[in-house]
Amino acid sequence: GCNSDNSRGSLIVLEGLDRSGKTSQSHRLVSHLKDKGVSVELWRFPDRTTAVGQMISAYLANESELDDRAIHLLFSANRWEKRSLMESKLRSGISLIVDRYSYSGVAFSSAKGLDLEWCKAPEVGLVAPDLVIYLDISAEKASERGGYGAERYEQLEFQKKVAETYHTLYDDSWKIIDGCLPVEAVEEQLRELALGTVLSCQKGKPLSKLWS
Ligand code: TMP
Repeated sequence: GCNSDNSRGSLIVLEGLDRSGKTSQSHRLVSHLKDKGVSVELWRFPDRTTAVGQMISAYLANESELDDRAIHLLFSANRWEKRSLMESKLRSGISLIVDRYSYSGVAFSSAKGLDLEWCKAPEVGLVAPDLVIYLDISAEKASERGGYGAERYEQLEFQKKVAETYHTLYDDSWKIIDGCLPVEAVEEQLRELALGTVLSCQKGKPLSKLWS
């Protein structure tokens, strides 16, 4: 039941291309869950507030150059530096809605041509999400949405490659939502998926580690 010793918060990850709607949908989801009385926080990767995050941010803004493998490992380190806080939040009953996680790390770096298994290796041992939701939108549609900024990866040809590598990461546990649906329809599907996951974690579903 709700008070079982292994009741915990759930780790819910949203993935997708740039401009897929992840960020605004994660905000909407968090406020809905709060309204429902769920204790929940919104997280995102990269977490640009840390020293590592600032290096990543400078790279994305084209203010610095880094070897492809070096930036890959920084993105991963940025998750590792939050790992123990993440686990303690979950164990204390707080659910986390996370805008991007290891799958972004692998999809974006392997889209540059790095070996997929090499890209996954530094992620092994991080907390595994209870639910991964992919907001599915084509690179063309995403680019039409406007707001592609000056950030390094916001280019149509590159986003097409990222979409392909995301597809190689899918497994049956992922939930795919059509990102071209009206905002309210996407929101409704997200709410249902998230609430179901929150409940199963309250009932004591064990925590696991990547990749599993
Ligand atoms: P953001 O726009 O969600 O803040 O993400 C910044 C960019 O960084 C975005 O283009 C995706 C990319 N990215 C990676 O390349 N590797 C990662 O591990 C993460 C989390 C994001």
